[in-house]
Amino acid sequence: MRRHLTLLAGALVGTLAWAGGGVHGDTQTVTGRQIVLRPDAPAIAPVQGGARSLYVLHCAGCHGMDASGSALGRVPDMRRVGDFLQLPGGREFIVKVPGVMGSGLDDAQVAAVTNWVLATLAAPSLPPGHRPYEAAEIQQARASPLLDVAGERYRLVGEARQRGLSLSTAP
Ligand code: HEC
Repeated sequence: MRRHLTLLAGALVGTLAWAGGGVHGDTQTVTGRQIVLRPDAPAIAPVQGGARSLYVLHCAGCHGMDASGSALGRVPDMRRVGDFLQLPGGREFIVKVPGVMGSGLDDAQVAAVTNWVLATLAAPSLPPGHRPYEAAEIQQARASPLLDVAGERYRLVGEARQRGLSLSTAP
């Protein structure tokens, strides 16, 4: 008897699914519920979010939510990235690294996400009188790409050492 009931229930579910499925014009019915398709509906997750969202989507995967980086992945700790701003060429360097230039973000977004990192995660390293980045400066930086990232970082870290800055030498 129990077996018969199970079979009956199975058949019933099958019939309902068959009757309910299918697309009719601009509505779709899924087992009895009607869904109105809206091609113009906004995406649930904002694509053009604020600067923090840009960081989460485009940087945090490698740098971590707290910017501490990863020794294993050879991703530097960015919590003292503001130290670069005191070094000749450092201001350009931090927006020219491949993770930034190759992020697919536009100039205004690169400026926004970098300003956000400096003002929040790296705030203790921000020198007094810091001038935030603007889109025009990023556009200019793109015109002369960084060819030797590791070499330039090595030079800057050497400068930082001489000045007694605690910029992380890792990785
Ligand atoms: C695919 C992993 C990856 C992504 C994504 C990424 N980065 Fe990086 N980032 C690195 C690595 C690795 C380095 C070390 C230099 C190098 O090898 O490019 C680095 C270096 C940096 C530096 C220089 C820091 C230092 O101490 O030398 C900054 C600033 C930086 N990234 C910012 C960002 C920002 C902002 C984003 C998001 C727009 C981002 N990165 C996205 C991997 C990444």
